[in-house]
Amino acid sequence: MSEIHLLKERIARRDYTVGVIGLGYVGLPLVLRFGEVGFPVIGFDVDRGKVKQLNDGGSYIQHVPADRVSGLVSARRFEATCDPERLREADAVIICVPTPLTAHREPDLQYVEKTADTVAATLRSGQLICLESTTYPGTTDEIVLPRLLARGLRVGEEFFLAFSPEREDPGNQQYGTSTIPKVVGGVTPACRDLACTLYAHAVERVVPVASTKVAEATKILENVYRAVNIALVNELKLAFERMGIDVWEVIEAAKTKPFGFQAFYPGPGLGGHCIPIDPFYLTWKAREYGVATRFIELAGEINSGMPLHVVQRVMEALNERGKALKGARVLVLGVAYKRDTDDSRESPGLEILELLIRSGARVEYSDPHIARLPLGRRHKLDLTSVPLTEGSLRGFDAAVLVTDHSTHPYELIHRVVPLIIDTRNAFRPRGLLGAHVVSA
Ligand SMILES: NC(=O)c1ccc[n+]([C@@H]2O[C@H](COP(=O)([O-])OP(=O)(O)OC[C@H]3O[C@@H](n4cnc5c(N)ncnc54)[C@H](O)[C@@H]3O)[C@@H](O)[C@H]2O)c1
Repeated sequence: MSEIHLLKERIARRDYTVGVIGLGYVGLPLVLRFGEVGFPVIGFDVDRGKVKQLNDGGSYIQHVPADRVSGLVSARRFEATCDPERLREADAVIICVPTPLTAHREPDLQYVEKTADTVAATLRSGQLICLESTTYPGTTDEIVLPRLLARGLRVGEEFFLAFSPEREDPGNQQYGTSTIPKVVGGVTPACRDLACTLYAHAVERVVPVASTKVAEATKILENVYRAVNIALVNELKLAFERMGIDVWEVIEAAKTKPFGFQAFYPGPGLGGHCIPIDPFYLTWKAREYGVATRFIELAGEINSGMPLHVVQRVMEALNERGKALKGARVLVLGVAYKRDTDDSRESPGLEILELLIRSGARVEYSDPHIARLPLGRRHKLDLTSVPLTEGSLRGFDAAVLVTDHSTHPYELIHRVVPLIIDTRNAFRPRGLLGAHVVSA
């Protein structure tokens, strides 16, 4: 029997260990899914704190319940480690490390490169390596493959290499790891075949594509599509605002068209690990081919201008009430980039806080999911979340709603704070109207 046949049989029998490198928002749910469908799983991370917490049966991601972790740990089906030597034990190694941008907004592939070196150091015959980190087309072939080939094993015969983009949507109640279809491209047909076989045991639908580049480009298309459409509605919002037209009402009306229209919503700017970052991976790569990705650049320009627009609206609205932003007490509601999540990475809330501080406002924030602001790459704000009570709300000149968490006390805020700048259209649908609620 051929080697690949034997590997598939072992996958079917669950006599096959899955290793996951990078136990963050993407890696941890994947660990749990493979563990829960019966595979022994080893999780690798450089963060000792995370490794300890997981081995103690805990979770550091709000939407990942600790009992899912502790269930697998006590069944001895999952173990986390910082020891890269143990990669030898894994039959499949799935890489979910960060892919941020550098200070000059260029791809920062240091995590992928380091991880590829680590995987290469223990590469053995029969191993399947699969990259899931979002990146530009060509990364698997150009960055990962040469490092693995240097070990002297043949790809597609002695080891297998694939790319399968993660499509995690934290907090989405409708779709999770098992129900979101998985696109898979392999370096060779055998690589794709083996990766598809493995994923088919964990997700409902696997979508094989012709190459790793197609799989990489698919993820970029999905994120560029969102970035461009969000920029479009943000631009329309600015135009309609001047014309006295409510963009939210326009979108609701347009949504009644049963074909050819998909609703995107304006907001205070883009956040999260994906949409503000990934499109620029393509922009950078396209330059190598002499192609200018103008849509992406323009969308980036419009979206990254939104926090400043919000702060200008705060300034104008205070001005209309005879107050200056300098010295005003302003409360930012929500710093997570997305409703009901605890992720503040790249959040426009951080940018808005900084812009307000720079304008001389006395700023505080409240976010039920983020007790203290983590020190980010770009933002170094030392603030803790203010609990929202009638007493704590009194004395603020304005509140800026940045994240529409479902647990904000909207009625209380509406009743007590004299000026509300609503960037998410959160107050009106709750029937909380009035001249002191300004949309931005
Ligand atoms: N968060 C999302 O919703 C989402 C969705 C789709 C795709 N992605 C992509 O998935 C990838 C991972 O994103 P994430 O949100 O899970 O990031 P994350 O920061 O939550 O997790 C990454 C983990 O990798 C670990 N790590 C870093 N370097 C390592 C190394 N050399 N060895 C082992 N572990 C290492 C970090 O300690 C961290 O725990 C990125 O490419 C991202 O663009 C993220």
